[in-house]
Amino acid sequence: MAGIVALTGATGFIGGALCQPLAQAGWRVRALVRQNRGDTLAGKIEWIRGDLNDVAALHQLMANADAVIHCAGAVRGRSLEAFERINVHGSERLLRTAQAESHCARFLFISSLAAREPTLSWYATSKRHAEEVLQQQSGALALTIFRPTAVYGPGDRELSPLFRLLRLGWLPVPGNQQARLTLLHVHDLITAVLRWLDSSFPATGTFELHDGRTGGYSWQTIAAIAARVQGRPVRLLHLPPTGLNLAAAVNLHLARWLGYQPMLTPGKLRELRHPDWICDNGALAAALDWRPSIDLEYAMRKGLNG
Ligand SMILES: NC(=O)c1ccc[n+]([C@@H]2O[C@H](COP(=O)([O-])OP(=O)(O)OC[C@H]3O[C@@H](n4cnc5c(N)ncnc54)[C@H](OP(=O)(O)O)[C@@H]3O)[C@@H](O)[C@H]2O)c1
Repeated sequence: MAGIVALTGATGFIGGALCQPLAQAGWRVRALVRQNRGDTLAGKIEWIRGDLNDVAALHQLMANADAVIHCAGAVRGRSLEAFERINVHGSERLLRTAQAESHCARFLFISSLAAREPTLSWYATSKRHAEEVLQQQSGALALTIFRPTAVYGPGDRELSPLFRLLRLGWLPVPGNQQARLTLLHVHDLITAVLRWLDSSFPATGTFELHDGRTGGYSWQTIAAIAARVQGRPVRLLHLPPTGLNLAAAVNLHLARWLGYQPMLTPGKLRELRHPDWICDNGALAAALDWRPSIDLEYAMRKGLNG
């Protein structure tokens, strides 16, 4: 199946990484963007100017679209309301427009593994709430929810500071030393999206995605992998919990005062300290015959970690 795919979040890390593979796979990509974009990938991408609040732009985005890939989302914010406005209400508006444009048969929501732990942060709450609203309202539209764990790769801004520090021989540990983390390379997420698009019957339901490493990673394992790849020691830098809590609280206050979108907040710290981000690809592997191919060591050896 190839036709028109409506894409949100195309100026971001994941949506941006999807554009070229979608076009190469023969899809005409119609992408909602808040800023003008020049490159149309030889006419295969049509940019629709607008945001998730703009119903007219959403109708333009959806006209005759066969499928929706919804990647737009707030990943930083100063209040629960700010996350909910985009992640919940924006997603709901997009779903309703897809339903109004009766051509559209399938809808993929890029949620997050954080939705499994909705009490940790405003982000996690809003992602879980968005999933619930979409599930309640999807009706005849085939709804698929992907819950990727932390995604990295070229173009990523959230994990790239960590990789920069690793190259310098340091790995900051924000609290729980026993925590089990999981990771996913953006290439494998794209492969899963393409498989979902190509499947004749869309796999409906909620699916976790990670790089397939059994038991995930500990902070110590990540340091050991980096040391092996770089050929020199990587030291764990244990960040003092009280100092870090204070920095997150101050950062949130400053963000409210100065008007920027903070990354380090008390909620983000709770996510980073959560002991168990182990997840399971079994359901998605069974539904789409998808297997990830890039683990952290391979990505670092090949310079694919961004
Ligand atoms: N990166 C990860 O590790 C990860 C892991 C799991 C799940 N996810 C989910 O994957 C999705 C994409 O993440 P990402 O890392 O690519 O994030 P990102 O780089 O911050 O990109 C977010 C995208 O959403 C767009 N956007 C935000 N608010 C919007 C609005 N009101 N209307 C229209 N577009 C809006 C942004 O547009 P502008 O460029 O105009 O701001 C940008 O294109 C998010 O939903 C996130 O929750 C990410």
